[in-house]
Amino acid sequence: MQNTPHHDILQGLARRPACISPKYFYDQRGSQLFEEITRLPEYYPTRTEHALMRTHGDDIARAVGQGGTVIELGAGNCEKARTLCRLLQPERFVGVDISADFLREGVARLCSDLPALQAHAVAGDLTRPIQLTPDIPRARRVVFYPGSSIGNFDPPQALELLSRMRALVDADGALLIGIDLPKDVDVLQAAYDDAAGVTAAFNRNVLAHVNRLIGSDFTPEAWEHRAFFNGEQSRIEMHLEARESAQVRWPGGGRDFAAGERIHTENSYKYSLTAFQALLARAGFSRAQAWTDERVWFAVVHAQP
Ligand code: AVI
Repeated sequence: MQNTPHHDILQGLARRPACISPKYFYDQRGSQLFEEITRLPEYYPTRTEHALMRTHGDDIARAVGQGGTVIELGAGNCEKARTLCRLLQPERFVGVDISADFLREGVARLCSDLPALQAHAVAGDLTRPIQLTPDIPRARRVVFYPGSSIGNFDPPQALELLSRMRALVDADGALLIGIDLPKDVDVLQAAYDDAAGVTAAFNRNVLAHVNRLIGSDFTPEAWEHRAFFNGEQSRIEMHLEARESAQVRWPGGGRDFAAGERIHTENSYKYSLTAFQALLARAGFSRAQAWTDERVWFAVVHAQP
C-alpha cells in the first residue's frame, strides 16, 4: 500500500493545507497541455533553452563530447532529445518518463528520424531510484535533464535526485541540465498564469487525473487556478482554490473544503547559478560550466563528477 499513487495522493489530500504532487499533472491530457504551455508566448523557458542549445550547440558538443549514451530524464515527446542527439551523435538514447505511452510514441518518432540510434523507453518515476537494465553500458553516459524540471522538486528532493543522477554516471560521465534563473516577477507570473488559460487547464486537469487514480469526485471546473511568486523561497507556487465550499468523496473517505481553501499543486524553484552550483557540488558534481542567454533568464549547465 505504501508508496502507491493511491496512498501518496490520499496522504497529500489529508494534509492541511492539502497538496497533490506535480507528478500527477502528466496523464495523456496533462502531457498534451504541457506541450501547449511550452508554445505559449508567456512561457519563455522552453524557447529560451532551445535557442541556447542552438546558439551554443557546437560549444556544448565540444564540452560534452560525442558518442556514448544519452539518458534523458522526463523525456516526454523526445523533442529536446532530437536536438541533442543531432549534436552529440550518441550510440544510444534512453528516455525515462512517468507518462509511458507518451514516451513510447516520442521514442518511436526519434527512432524513425535517427535510424542509427539505439533507443530505449523506460517508464519511471523520478521520485524513486532510477533502474536501468544491465544492457545499458555505464561508459560515457550523459544524463540530460532539460526544461528546468529540477525546479519542481523542493531543494532536499532536488539534491536527492541530483545524487541519483550522479549514481547513474561514472567519472567519464556528465550531466547536462537546464535551470530557470530568477527574474522580474511580472515575467515569472505571466509564464504561470497565461492569458489563454492553458496553464489553468493544466492545473485543473490534475483533479481529473486524481479522480481516475483514487475514484474521487472532484469537479475540476469548481477550482480556480492560482499562481504567484514566493520571493522568500524563490519559487512560483501553483494552487487550486475552491470557488465554493466542496464535499469531495472517494471510496473509503473524503474531505470537505471551505470556499477559498487551496490545494497546493506545484512549486517551480528559480535558482541563481551560484546556488545551483552549490547544490551540484553537494550531489558530487564538482566541475560545472554554464551557458546563458542575453537576458540571463535561463542556463544550460554541463556538470562533471
Ligand atoms: C515541467 N516544469 C519545468 C514546468 C515548470 O515551469 O515548472 C511545469 C509547469 N507548470 C506550469 N507551467 C509549466
